[in-house]
Amino acid sequence: MIDPVWTDVDDYIAAHLIGADAVLDSALAANEAGGLPPIDVSAAQGKMLHLLARMAGARHILELGTLGGYSTIWLARALPEDGRLVTIELDPHHAEVARGNIARAGFAAQVDLRVGPALDLLDAMIAAGEGPFDFVFIDADKPNNVAYLKAAIALSRPGTTIIVDNVVREGGVLDAASDDPRIQGTRALFEAVAAEPRLSATAVQTVGAKKWDGFLLAVLGAAA
Ligand code: SAH
Ligand code: DHB
Ligand code: MG
Repeated sequence: MIDPVWTDVDDYIAAHLIGADAVLDSALAANEAGGLPPIDVSAAQGKMLHLLARMAGARHILELGTLGGYSTIWLARALPEDGRLVTIELDPHHAEVARGNIARAGFAAQVDLRVGPALDLLDAMIAAGEGPFDFVFIDADKPNNVAYLKAAIALSRPGTTIIVDNVVREGGVLDAASDDPRIQGTRALFEAVAAEPRLSATAVQTVGAKKWDGFLLAVLGAAA
């Protein structure tokens, strides 16, 4: 369900605090023309990710789940000139659309878009000693969220921010008996975060153009 009031308030927020954005509008148009599913973060959420990355002083950002690069562009805008963002996408068509959007947004040189299964690419990054990243946004296939969290921690340093999208699913997260692997993946993520003494975390519920959902926010600290 999307309550019309939620979308009206999202429009109000965007009109006052975000404003017109031809680059992001054209990215969404290219996504639609390319037949990509409209499951990007909203403008208000994208701006929130952007601000969180700036607050964290992020110079190296890792994103799992690029889709058409909408969230990638918001995050890349938080980087200093010498900053870098690695984003991982399984679907070659999504990646092709994203590559165009990221280039039109002016971030071709700063964004390293890698195509393949995130688990394999993350394992290769860990083996190659890549990182540490300052900020990680996890927004790919939800059943793998525990494995993504563990890989994100391996590629992080004390102080790294880790954000996970879609952790509420219209309250579906409460359904312990769900046969939806996305719900089970999200519930397993909460268990894994709760059991990881190095993470200090919360989750924030959101409503708006993307229905009722939420973000998990965590900061990595020293082992307790
Ligand atoms: N972050 C984007 C939305 C991502 S949607 C935004 O807000 O703009 C989720 C994306 O994860 C999809 O493009 C999907 O193809 C990708 N994905 C699914 N399984 C994956 C996997 N195993 N590895 C990498 N990406 C995956
Ligand atoms: C879906 C995935 C997302 O990352 C999202 O933000 C919304 C929906 C999905 O797979 O349905
Ligand atoms: Mg998402």
